[in-house]
Amino acid sequence: MSISKGKSTTKKPQTSRYTKVKAKLEASLFAKNKILVDTKNVDVDGNTYNTVDLFSGCGGLSKGFEDAGFRSILGVEIDPDAAATYDANFKDAKVWSNDIHDLTDEEALRMIDGQEVHVLAGGFPCQGFSVAGERDPEDQRNQLFKQMVRFTKLFNPMFVVGENVPGIVTMDDGRFMDEIFHSFNDIGYTITARVLESADFGVAQYRPRTIFIANRFGVANPYPIELLSPENHITIEQAIDDLKNAPRDASTNHEWTAHRKSTIERIKKVAPGHSLYDTYADAFKRQYRGRPSMTVKENHGGTHIHHELDRCISAREMARLQSFPDDFFFQGTMKRAMFQLGNAVPPLLARHVALALRPTLAELMDDN
Ligand SMILES: C[S@@+](CC[C@H](N)C(=O)[O-])C[C@H]1O[C@@H](n2cnc3c(N)ncnc32)[C@H](O)[C@@H]1O
Repeated sequence: MSISKGKSTTKKPQTSRYTKVKAKLEASLFAKNKILVDTKNVDVDGNTYNTVDLFSGCGGLSKGFEDAGFRSILGVEIDPDAAATYDANFKDAKVWSNDIHDLTDEEALRMIDGQEVHVLAGGFPCQGFSVAGERDPEDQRNQLFKQMVRFTKLFNPMFVVGENVPGIVTMDDGRFMDEIFHSFNDIGYTITARVLESADFGVAQYRPRTIFIANRFGVANPYPIELLSPENHITIEQAIDDLKNAPRDASTNHEWTAHRKSTIERIKKVAPGHSLYDTYADAFKRQYRGRPSMTVKENHGGTHIHHELDRCISAREMARLQSFPDDFFFQGTMKRAMFQLGNAVPPLLARHVALALRPTLAELMDDN
């Protein structure tokens, strides 16, 4: 790691990095067959729908669905700490804490015990797709969406909801998107994708995500309409300022990476948008004031630097910036909690995705 000399200027934040990706998506086959729903007017009372969450992580996606009146009955997650967090927070769900490839059809059916799966959700691993990653089309992790197809055939859900990074759209010149599209079409599902910016839904963080939705009825896939314009985005101060003077406390996940005195002296000189290190520039970046947080990542404990204090943000502050409620506790060490948080879908974004499904689900249930 080479150490940055310390910068005095503030970098201009990049907020429209995914404009091209969005345009490419809107011009593709994925743009067909979707409708936009104003989720402000969607009622959460009424039917409770069942979800299964593949690659559930700690449960960001499931938490958002739960807040929209859904109930998780099964989570599948290979990481023991993430699976433990999921288990502790979703009381009705069984948890397969192992490799998804080892979960046989028979065992999966036994675990859901005859219950209907209304929505199959899954943030299939995305490291190979991220613009920050290597974008290797041969990466085995890029084949994990096939498990989504396998479980769609097995559970016959009304809807499938997939989540990934925006970089998936341009991965391998769009060939991955085509493969996903055709795989779901071949099993009778109408699939679409949209890039949603979490900050537009009230999350105090810029975190654009590609959301896939598929259904087996040939109806238009519902997506939530953006709620906030950039001038109304929730700022980092609004989300975490009340934690500024809170002492380090493992029982609330309010723990951050401890620094030597000399490192703190260097952190003091890091300006917004700049990193403590020249060669490790994605970690230890100073947050901007007066706007949503930069996309939070675990970076092996090198989370972003606080907008005001000369320390990195804590796991609990990451949780706030991801829109997790304070009573959602993350299992494992501080670093393992940060790993789970860096992977998660913001529950508030997931809640609006789930709310958008409700009117169509209700109509389809009435018709059946
Ligand atoms: C992008 S994260 C999902 C985050 C989750 N949707 C949330 O909102 O919290 C992908 C997850 O897939 C898990 N995973 C990766 N390979 C797996 C496998 N072969 N079987 C089961 N889970 C796997 C990872 O441990 C990681 O937690």
